[in-house]
Amino acid sequence: MTQPVQIGKTSVYSTPLGLGANAVSGHNLFPNLNDETGKEIVRTALTNGITLLDTAFAYGMGRSEELIGEVLKEFDRSKIVIATKAAHDPANSGSFNNTPEFLTRSVDEALKRLQTDYIDIFYIHFPDKTTPKNEAVSALQKLKEAGKINAIGVSNFSLAQIKEANLDGFVDIVEDEYSLIHREAENDLMPYLKENQISFVPYFPLASGLLTGKYESDVTFPPEDLRSKKPDFQGERFKEIIHHVDQLKLMAADYNTSVAALVLAWYIKNPFIDVVIPGAKRPEQVRNNIKALDVHLTDETYHQIDTLFRLT
Ligand SMILES: NC(=O)c1ccc[n+]([C@@H]2O[C@H](COP(=O)([O-])OP(=O)(O)OC[C@H]3O[C@@H](n4cnc5c(N)ncnc54)[C@H](OP(=O)(O)O)[C@@H]3O)[C@@H](O)[C@H]2O)c1
Repeated sequence: MTQPVQIGKTSVYSTPLGLGANAVSGHNLFPNLNDETGKEIVRTALTNGITLLDTAFAYGMGRSEELIGEVLKEFDRSKIVIATKAAHDPANSGSFNNTPEFLTRSVDEALKRLQTDYIDIFYIHFPDKTTPKNEAVSALQKLKEAGKINAIGVSNFSLAQIKEANLDGFVDIVEDEYSLIHREAENDLMPYLKENQISFVPYFPLASGLLTGKYESDVTFPPEDLRSKKPDFQGERFKEIIHHVDQLKLMAADYNTSVAALVLAWYIKNPFIDVVIPGAKRPEQVRNNIKALDVHLTDETYHQIDTLFRLT
């Protein structure tokens, strides 16, 4: 039985594995997405015991939240942890806005799209250049006191911005890029969060599919796919990553599991990580990723994987 994870010091608890919902109608991020498949991805996660859904206004400019809102009606809302985010200001060409007025309005609008009366975790998606971060978070604290949100998060903030945001101790959770191939957060960010009882959610845990073991050689993506511009998918860097992932295949076979589930199990065992949110384009990917909850790595395997991915 998987132990629930407490978000910061709040009353919000989640499974250690959630669903990243940027491909649930994130048509501005990925081509060829389909609303029905998006809803089925969410259903598959919730039916198979996942409780946390990670979405954002920026995923389909509200469409991901709307589809999640539709699926939510089929389930017991009280058992689901909805995390959403805002910062892109549609009235200003999508530039980042952290003002108290904008954040307050964004929460109200997200509540409508999600067809719910509270949001479990609300993140400021990206920092803007001008709003003092503790003022932005104080606005969220007011919404927390009003019962509209239950936990306060920030995403894509530098450590200095997180410290500024947390001047009054109001930050409960941080979401930032981290994976076996992007480990910068280990240096200062993750220890700071642990010390301050702030939960950490890494995004791109599967390095956008690279850490699933499905790529053998060069791969190309259409220009409208985010990955077409990512350095991880190009040249020598791509080859080095694939070489290391090949070694994971042997370990995954020992555990009778997939590379994706093995990698996700590594994050779940990592004491600095609270919830892992792999994304998915198809329901079977969700089913595969959920198997990570049944993979219990030995300390030896955990350290082997850790060492293997100390990339140069
Ligand atoms: N806060 C932020 O600024 C921010 C930024 C980015 C992401 N996020 C969040 O983090 C979540 C995770 O990021 P992500 O979804 O972009 O990247 P990811 O979790 O690293 O990779 C997910 C992608 O890998 C492939 N995949 C997933 N499971 C697989 C499996 N079992 N076998 C083979 N392929 C599999 C799918 O793409 P293909 O089928 O196309 O290969 C899927 O869309 C997002 O959904 C979003 O909620 C947050």
